[in-house]
Amino acid sequence: MPEPIIILGIESSCDDTAAAVLVDGEVRSNIVAGQDVHRHWGGVVPELASRAHQEHIVPVVHEALRTADVSKEQLSGVAVTQGPGLIGALLVGAGFARSLAQGLDIPLLGVDHMQAHVLAHFIRDGQAHSPPSFPFLNLTVSGGHTLIVLVRGELDMEVVGTTMDDAAGEAFDKGAKVLGLPYPGGPMIDMHSRDGDPYRFRLPAPRLMGFDMSFSGVKTAFNGIVRKGVSQDPAFVERELPHLCASLQQCIIDILLRKLHKAGRTMGITRIAISGGVSANTALRAQVADLAQREGWTIHIPPLAFCTDNGAMVAMAGFSLFKAGRFAALDSVPHPR
Ligand code: KG4
Ligand code: ZN
Repeated sequence: MPEPIIILGIESSCDDTAAAVLVDGEVRSNIVAGQDVHRHWGGVVPELASRAHQEHIVPVVHEALRTADVSKEQLSGVAVTQGPGLIGALLVGAGFARSLAQGLDIPLLGVDHMQAHVLAHFIRDGQAHSPPSFPFLNLTVSGGHTLIVLVRGELDMEVVGTTMDDAAGEAFDKGAKVLGLPYPGGPMIDMHSRDGDPYRFRLPAPRLMGFDMSFSGVKTAFNGIVRKGVSQDPAFVERELPHLCASLQQCIIDILLRKLHKAGRTMGITRIAISGGVSANTALRAQVADLAQREGWTIHIPPLAFCTDNGAMVAMAGFSLFKAGRFAALDSVPHPR
């Protein structure tokens, strides 16, 4: 029996400090410490994020190893998010991972956060869901990115469509802020939408060529609806909250799915997948499954714990890099963009 490959994955690109242990691609622990400090400010404050990562990283890594029942000395490699993300936040994870890898004399694996979101599909967690086979199209939707990715192999990906302005998660978060909902707004919009009419308020559909998307027009139109409504009735938001949330959510989903649909048809790819924080959205999950059923496509959606930022996806990407012998130099630096 060959020695198992045991990877510790560390994620600190934004406002979650996360660590996980994977043994031959199977998750043994997945620990995430969120950061409540940003809630008060209605968005992520970079300096506060860096400080919170510094406080959390040692206990989070310790807990990941303890839960996995793995000692540091058993690790084959340390994977860490190198970017994109907030530079101060990335530096905390990168510095910690580099010292650990150097101290243990094992490879350091530099992970691209967006690639990790795609590779989340390949994490084995003991449940019966098979990973997508290649090639497939992945809609990667997070707080900072909105990408349609053609995935040809574990480390062979091409971005075929992206947003021209805001990310889908940003559109959720900014819309929520206008409604006075706390950050992060995506889960709040999701929750309040459940009893809402998604077609009560009409929002514009952008017309862009190819597989690119835009969310800034939606944001502006949504702001306008809320401002006008409140000027006529101060209780407008309270009264219409579910409908406002559902209308915004539906408009964002329509933009995403129209382009995913077009990409699948144009490229003749019948396997589609979604990942990233926004793929936790209940309505998006349901509607992408409907789309797949109508088209006769197969659809892959990772379990919720692997959708939002987590260490397991970073460890998974590290596992792929480890197998390919693609190790990072110990003096490599994070790349925020
Ligand atoms: O992937 P992620 O955890 O972090 C980044 O890499 O950005 O994504 C965070 C984003 C936030 O914008 C958050 O509002 C959104 O994912 N999000 C959701 C839901 N859960 C998280 N958006 C809509 N519905 C949700 N249920
Ligand atoms: Zn992310």
